[in-house]
Amino acid sequence: MPNTVLVTQSLPDQYLDSLAEHAELDVLEADQHLSDSALAMRRAACHGVVCTLTDTIDRDVLQDMENLEFVSSVSVGVDHIDVSALSARGIAVGNTPGVLVDTTADTAFALLLAAARRIAEGDRYIRDGKWTASKRWTPDFFLGKDVSGSTLGIVGLGPIGQAMAQRAAGFGMTLASWTPSGREVTGVRSMPLEELLATSDFVSVHVALSDTTRNLIDGARIATMKPGAVLINTARGGIVDESAVAAALDDGHLFAAGLDVFEEEPVPADSPLLKHPRVVVVPHIGSATASTRRKMVDLAVANAVAALRGEPMPYCVNPEVYTSL
Ligand code: GLV
Repeated sequence: MPNTVLVTQSLPDQYLDSLAEHAELDVLEADQHLSDSALAMRRAACHGVVCTLTDTIDRDVLQDMENLEFVSSVSVGVDHIDVSALSARGIAVGNTPGVLVDTTADTAFALLLAAARRIAEGDRYIRDGKWTASKRWTPDFFLGKDVSGSTLGIVGLGPIGQAMAQRAAGFGMTLASWTPSGREVTGVRSMPLEELLATSDFVSVHVALSDTTRNLIDGARIATMKPGAVLINTARGGIVDESAVAAALDDGHLFAAGLDVFEEEPVPADSPLLKHPRVVVVPHIGSATASTRRKMVDLAVANAVAALRGEPMPYCVNPEVYTSL
């Protein structure tokens, strides 16, 4: 009997074809979730899962998946997956690093520019019919914040943080960083997080979400940020305390924020963030270009095919499962 792979989001047909050469595919409908109780038999029957970051794979979901041999996620972040529970069972987890680095750094820098120069706010202003002749141009009209010549503090100096540094260097920014691994990169001055927050005009978050980074930028830390600073987050929502960001914008401590990710996605319509004109929001599109998404799906399929062949996944977040066999 061939192996069965549960595919939680329909991939383009040509990818399903290439996966289907190696396994029987059980593709969920768009409104079905891996955890649905009605899917228990399908969960139990599958040997592998190809999923995205919207699929939570925790101990509850794993309970009845006794045949599971691998999980391949179309994402670089794996905070939606209980990797340690899978590692304990010797199950490999694949992700899609590398291919989305530049695209995501482009998004972060776009948010930085848009937040600094009030681009989304200006767009709304015109569309709402507020740009009138009396306010055509005055020296103090729609003032933003200079990017060039200011300091960017990068929280997390992995590949995306480093790509952000390259972009910022091109804009003549001074670069500071703090990273949990202590990594040093030429041209970027590493410093304690407290110093980075107190001295940076812009702070951009690029750490993965984990138990140690959850709520890393909390209310107390936001209060220590340089007055008038701008906060950018393209990493994960749980790293930044959103209500503290909204409060700091309201009281004028922060100048603006640019956010691609949220504690809850889709971000609720009544989120205080959405009420603030200086918050630039986009719907978790950091890696969303056609060529990058194609490369991500390619990697996820390559991971799944390797696992189905009994080979190590090329991009595995818990490679220890191969050595501990
Ligand atoms: C996107 O957020 C990803 O983790 O790939």
